[in-house]
Amino acid sequence: MKYMTTAEIREAYLSFFEKKGCKRMPSSSLIPDDPSLLLTSAGMVQFKPYFLQQKHLDDAYIGATTSQKCVRTNDIDIIGTTGRHLSFFEMLGNFAFGKYFKNEMCAWALEFCLDVLELPKEKLYFTVFEDDDETFAKWLELGVEESHISRLGEDDNFWRAGPTGPCGPCSEIYFDKGEECGCGSPDCKPGCDCDRYVEFWNCVFTQFDAQEDGSMPELPFKNIDTGMGLERIAAIMQGVSSNYDTDILRSLVGVGERLSGYEYGKDDKVDLALRIMADHSRAVTFMIADGILPSNEGRGYVLRRLLRRAIMKGNLIGIQGEFVNEFVDEIERLMGDVYPEIVENRELIRRLISSEEQRFGATLHQGKAFLTDELANLKGNVLSGKVAFKLHDTYGFPLEVTTDICGEKGIEVDIDEFNTEMEAQRERARHAGESDAEAAWSTYGGVFSKLLDEHGKTQFVGYSDLETIGNVVALVRKGELIDAAYEGEEVDVVLDKTSMYAEMGGQVGDVGTISSDKVSIEVNDVTAPEAGLHAHHCKILSGTIEVGDEVIVRVQARHRHLTERNHTATHILHAALRQVLGDHVKQAGSYVGPDRLRFDFTHFEKMTPEQIQKVEEIANNVIMHGISSNIFETSLDEARKAGVTALFGEKYGDVVRVVQISDFSRELCGGCHVKNTAEIGLIKIISESSVGANMRRIEAVTSAGAIEYVNKIVAELKETADLLKVPMFDVSERTAANIKAARQFDKVAKASEEVIAEDRMSQILDEAVTAKGGYPVVVVNVRRTLNASIVRNLWDIIRAKMKEPGACVLAGKTEDNKPIIMAAGTKEAVEKGFNAADVIRAAGPAIKGGGGGKPEMAQAGGKNADGIEDAIKAMKEVL
Ligand code: SER
Repeated sequence: MKYMTTAEIREAYLSFFEKKGCKRMPSSSLIPDDPSLLLTSAGMVQFKPYFLQQKHLDDAYIGATTSQKCVRTNDIDIIGTTGRHLSFFEMLGNFAFGKYFKNEMCAWALEFCLDVLELPKEKLYFTVFEDDDETFAKWLELGVEESHISRLGEDDNFWRAGPTGPCGPCSEIYFDKGEECGCGSPDCKPGCDCDRYVEFWNCVFTQFDAQEDGSMPELPFKNIDTGMGLERIAAIMQGVSSNYDTDILRSLVGVGERLSGYEYGKDDKVDLALRIMADHSRAVTFMIADGILPSNEGRGYVLRRLLRRAIMKGNLIGIQGEFVNEFVDEIERLMGDVYPEIVENRELIRRLISSEEQRFGATLHQGKAFLTDELANLKGNVLSGKVAFKLHDTYGFPLEVTTDICGEKGIEVDIDEFNTEMEAQRERARHAGESDAEAAWSTYGGVFSKLLDEHGKTQFVGYSDLETIGNVVALVRKGELIDAAYEGEEVDVVLDKTSMYAEMGGQVGDVGTISSDKVSIEVNDVTAPEAGLHAHHCKILSGTIEVGDEVIVRVQARHRHLTERNHTATHILHAALRQVLGDHVKQAGSYVGPDRLRFDFTHFEKMTPEQIQKVEEIANNVIMHGISSNIFETSLDEARKAGVTALFGEKYGDVVRVVQISDFSRELCGGCHVKNTAEIGLIKIISESSVGANMRRIEAVTSAGAIEYVNKIVAELKETADLLKVPMFDVSERTAANIKAARQFDKVAKASEEVIAEDRMSQILDEAVTAKGGYPVVVVNVRRTLNASIVRNLWDIIRAKMKEPGACVLAGKTEDNKPIIMAAGTKEAVEKGFNAADVIRAAGPAIKGGGGGKPEMAQAGGKNADGIEDAIKAMKEVL
């Protein structure tokens, strides 16, 4: 059979479908646009809006073709135990939206298999959905033997990406690896669990749109969605039985061999570790490159688990220290040309992984301590599944690590109980997923999505015009469409055209007014409930507004200008931070309002005061240079080639807007910016803080906000200077001198108190009485404000002065005038019969309270401070 590398297969597939008329498109991000999905798990994910006819390809194309990065972790525990399952894989696909269907698809699939891959026809098997006679007949017509076609049911041959959305029956193509790989059962056929028939291509005839109520209306067109597992077909083309023996993954397994000194294929335990390290490190690299950061929830948690599992496996086969980045280097070498994002984000990927490895080192240590404790207290020789689950869930210990450690000590792990706990967790996760999907559907299905369908996007003219005339397209109150709104009401106004920016990319929405001769409206905020659809959140000050009215929209200029200054300043700050700290700095979130800006970015330690000062200095230099901003539209490809900073984890359309400030900063951005940096006036960083392990936050003010901030500092300083009666710039010197003097004074005061206490203490000890057991007891009403810790300190002092055996009873009042009494005795006093708890019990009635403790020490409180003397009498009785 013909041999092909992974790269050759990928290229052959894409160019084959390109020649058929499909548009070759890039893989979409692993972070899906679709909120019902955690991670991109199939090629069709980016095409959902095309199936639903919300987006369209150029007329020149009959469909699309991609090699899509995918992550699937639903059976993470199986990964590595078989040669077939991977967490990260590439899916080759082609997609049609009404322009071709079964006939073409089946013919082309066969053509690709036979003519391009040159697979032997007798090795190919086909399945079709149970009642899909049409596809059955199609394969026959194309010359496939009837014995090579089988019908499978809903579980195997009906494909859906989630509970709702585009779906349909499918037909799968299998490769027969030969009888020797099979289970030998006479019923063995495609779909059997054994290794003989490998499914490598799934062709879905996407015809339906599953609804929440279970109904499945037809989609407007009949569509195609196919997916070919690149690693699986590579295994076939390279004549190997496992994905891990194909070129790319085998190289990664090789990294593990080099690091551990073990050879692959000799020992099951070692092989499992090598496979998991190869697979997981690849998933982790691609996830970070797409903007996923490790965290304790959502996709960040998936990332963290994969990384931890890889680290554990490495440790288990003796790899010491940080090592995952060795895999990253190899992944970049093998795949960086096809997926430039792993090259562009190389520094960030490495630093994040290294920081996680260090942090996990600490958790691992705690987990091992926890397990050692559990094992020490274990009765019998079975460790509970709950403990194993806690190790798994809290400390990131995969089950097999726990069983290994236990196994060495002859202890078993209750696997059933562990599985029950796991299942319960899966169930919780599944429910969480379902509700995400529901939430997603409610926004899709909402009134704004209908408005977008019916009227299209709002035309935004506000980059240049702060005032414009628009027509009222719709009025929405509490999610309902209304025809008119009246004085005093709050309503969302949708116009065909507006000058008002809708909150996006961190920049707040504009405020301003909408008016006509019939109505006067205050706009408090503008948001985009659907991309491109501006909803003006309004209060009607007077008059009436109706659908169809023509109105004047005016942006409040000051609000907008201040916001623009902060927005451009954010870009300048971003570039300055990269200059000072390094390329691993990526924007992770921002707030840009008229009052201030907030910028979150990836970085791993606190910035030093010098770094902050340097960043501020660079930024102010750019501002003072008075650089005109250059804002233009271009294609995403052109922008990428020119090295424009695209925001991390952000997705863009084909046409993008670039905001450029000379050579200093070039970012893709849809926001509002100053014409010249001089408008910003000044930037002042007011804080730098941590937001999680790998992220820092800077808050800053510019222009009017910066002046206000500086004035506030000056006023504060002046007030302090006046209090100190010194000139403003002597404040710190004088304050330091005052602090020194105050410390000196404290020392003297403390020394005098000690002398007094010393004196009083000898007096107290002299007054000791002798208890029944023949040891001395000091009983004192301290007559000072006491609390539990002072009382205990006093006892420490008394005990140090007393000879064994000895005891004491101390009584006094707390700050809020409540009685407090403590009794305590030395070890020998207790041996001679002293019992602090008994003594304390006697004090209870007089102080209207009570307490308790141990024979060595007990304490009581109460309500009646006047009863202290009586309490002392009662306690003396006992003693
Ligand atoms: N969406 C289908 C799958 O993932 C075919 O691309 O198998």
